[in-house]
Amino acid sequence: MLRLSFLVSALPAVLSQLALPTTPFLPPSASNGAQASSQSGIPNTQWTTLLGNLIYFYDAQRSGNLSVPGTNNRVPWRNSSAMDDGKDVGLDLSGGYYDAGDYIKATYPLSFTLMSLCWGAIDYGKGYDLANQTAYLDSMLRWGLDWMIKAHPSPSTLYVLVGSTDLDNAYWGGDQNIPTNRPSYAINDTKPGTDAAASASAAFSACAALYSNRGFNGSYSTPASLHDDTYAQTLLTHAQQLYTFAVNATGGQKTYQSSVPAVGDAYGSSGFGDDLTIAALFLAWASSSPTYYQQAQQYFQQYNLNKQNGVFNWDSKTPGIYVLFAQIAQSSSTFGAGENLSTWQTTCESYFDAIVNNDSGAFLTNDGLLYYNGDSDDATLNPALNAAMLLSRYAPIASTSDRKASYAKFAQSQLDYVLGKNSMSVPYIVGSNPNSPANPHSAMASGGDDIGNINTSPPQEAYVLYGAVVGGPDKHDRFFDIRSDWPETEVALDYNAPMLTLAAMHVLNDTNDPFYTALQPGAYAKVKPSGQPCDNAISDGCGGTKLSKGAIIALAVVLTVVGLIILGLLIWYIRLRMTRK
Ligand SMILES: *[C@@H]1O[C@H](CO)[C@@H](O)[C@H](O)[C@H]1NC(C)=O
Ligand SMILES: *[C@@H]1O[C@H](CO)[C@@H](O)[C@H](O)[C@H]1NC(C)=O
Ligand SMILES: *[C@@H]1O[C@H](CO)[C@@H](O)[C@H](O)[C@H]1NC(C)=O
Ligand SMILES: *[C@@H]1O[C@H](CO)[C@@H](O)[C@H](O)[C@H]1NC(C)=O
Ligand SMILES: *[C@@H]1O[C@H](CO)[C@@H](O)[C@H](O)[C@H]1NC(C)=O
Ligand SMILES: *[C@@H]1O[C@H](CO)[C@@H](O)[C@H](O)[C@H]1NC(C)=O
Ligand SMILES: *[C@@H]1O[C@H](CO)[C@@H](O)[C@H](O)[C@H]1NC(C)=O
Ligand SMILES: *[C@@H]1O[C@H](CO)[C@@H](O)[C@H](O)[C@H]1NC(C)=O
Ligand SMILES: *[C@@H]1O[C@H](CO)[C@@H](O)[C@H](O)[C@H]1NC(C)=O
Repeated sequence: MLRLSFLVSALPAVLSQLALPTTPFLPPSASNGAQASSQSGIPNTQWTTLLGNLIYFYDAQRSGNLSVPGTNNRVPWRNSSAMDDGKDVGLDLSGGYYDAGDYIKATYPLSFTLMSLCWGAIDYGKGYDLANQTAYLDSMLRWGLDWMIKAHPSPSTLYVLVGSTDLDNAYWGGDQNIPTNRPSYAINDTKPGTDAAASASAAFSACAALYSNRGFNGSYSTPASLHDDTYAQTLLTHAQQLYTFAVNATGGQKTYQSSVPAVGDAYGSSGFGDDLTIAALFLAWASSSPTYYQQAQQYFQQYNLNKQNGVFNWDSKTPGIYVLFAQIAQSSSTFGAGENLSTWQTTCESYFDAIVNNDSGAFLTNDGLLYYNGDSDDATLNPALNAAMLLSRYAPIASTSDRKASYAKFAQSQLDYVLGKNSMSVPYIVGSNPNSPANPHSAMASGGDDIGNINTSPPQEAYVLYGAVVGGPDKHDRFFDIRSDWPETEVALDYNAPMLTLAAMHVLNDTNDPFYTALQPGAYAKVKPSGQPCDNAISDGCGGTKLSKGAIIALAVVLTVVGLIILGLLIWYIRLRMTRK
């Protein structure tokens, strides 16, 4: 026994990051996505390629030193950048990911993204394995998590933003000239942020569960093969500390923008009850703790999370909480005892039935995209993709075969839409097909540095931002593909997240190609809308009172002249009649 334990402790303590393939996976040219795949087995290579591209997008978003041995920068046009992040506060906060088409690093949406990705890799992990993408998944997750660890330098300090949203919006250019004034903003014990701390905790817990190979019963596959208990333990420690910070900060419980107003512009949060609940729930799952589980139940009651019908996104986790409760009810024999799967089925199904039966407050566009007024306005695809992801995940758990079928069907309709089954014939993933968006709103990929002429300088986007899910078309299903039109063309870490989970699921279960292989090259060019959009970036297409001053004066002159002529004619007519009398 003694010798055995000696041997065990002599084994390498750290089973570290998986080795990346010596011949890297690189996205094929978009024309590859116009060819129906020849084989019909599992995995379907169009799906495995799509999954690879979706991960590759995160490589393109990397900040920090891209030349560290073992990280293999696969994106030839990306350079190391923002190496001095954190110096203003005496820390190394280099690394992590740029949030979207600009250069801020924002912890709250990153936390949601990592939580969502790890959850997906727990449920559909074998999809990553089958696609030979697990090493890239591992590398991608660690690039985010290792940065979050740096951003959490003490139990009650979490950096929530690096870079100023004001300064950043004033810069459009490559990764070599990013303005160096990049302040670091933290929440702490006296200036807390319950939502941001809890959300970061949830990301660490979900990923700890993944790295400790903790799948759900009744799940569709095993977690992705990146089991690493040492790393999982590190993640769990951060999760526990952040949860305590969220719950017990001296400064009380409050939204993080009330402590750090600088985050308000980009990523203010609408509340923290959902964050506390999902943090407690994932912590319960990752650490097999009935105590955390009971706290999740308490928060669920306290914040009235039952019977909500909103979206699932970085600011709103409630629908995900329903599904996670159901998955745990189906899985745990150590806690949630007395918790009853049918209770959570009722909760989930009241939410999903409303979506599927057009009773959720959202509506379907003419082409069938699920649209929430407000939440969908600045990125139409995100609410629909998140709904499709949750519906797909929940469908096998549903209480009746009708529901299993209708949920799966609705999810498929949203996925198909995003992959090109729409009147534009556009698959909304850059570089996946010849009809894909060509002008993603990404300062890095555009190759331009003239903020006054984003659309034309340069005329063609310099680099193809493979695998990026864009904001999406407008509520009339029109897509203009204009670089400055950020609601339609911007890319973001959280936009991609549900698509990875859906792709991993389809890798392991779908013999059919993604919809876009059926599209004719050039199909979009034939139907591309003329004119301009009407949204929060571009209002030229809104119609109405968009006349110039000169035009208004000219119009006034014309109207006056016409009025005088009519008046003259009227007087002439009256006099004529009077003389006839
Ligand atoms: C990145 O890391 C490598 C290896 O540690 C080092 O040689 C290089 O100087 C670093 N690059 C930057 C920009 O700091
Ligand atoms: C994954 O790797 C295996 C072994 O090298 C290979 O046989 C298989 O074709 C690869 N699959 C994909 C989708 O690349
Ligand atoms: C990276 O550096 C190269 C060489 O200076 C440059 O051509 C390229 O545009 C840079 N990439 C970005 C995203 O700015
Ligand atoms: C928390 O941060 C604020 C600045 O936002 C600072 O004034 C305060 O001293 C910090 N509190 C602690 C406990 O570090
Ligand atoms: C995979 O497909 C089968 C047959 O269509 C279905 O029964 C099963 O629920 C699917 N699994 C997942 C994860 O969707
Ligand atoms: C919060 O503080 C109370 C009182 O010290 C303690 O009992 C509780 O465990 C703490 N909560 C967490 C989540 O750490
Ligand atoms: C989940 O699976 C584990 C391991 O197979 C088993 O011990 C446990 O009873 C299952 N839980 C439920 C609720 O079925
Ligand atoms: C589960 O809940 C249902 C309905 O809420 C109830 O009828 C059933 O008795 C409960 N089962 C257990 C084991 O608590
Ligand atoms: C969905 O419901 C809305 C009202 O909430 C209604 O205007 C719309 O026509 C309905 N759509 C369909 C397809 O029934």
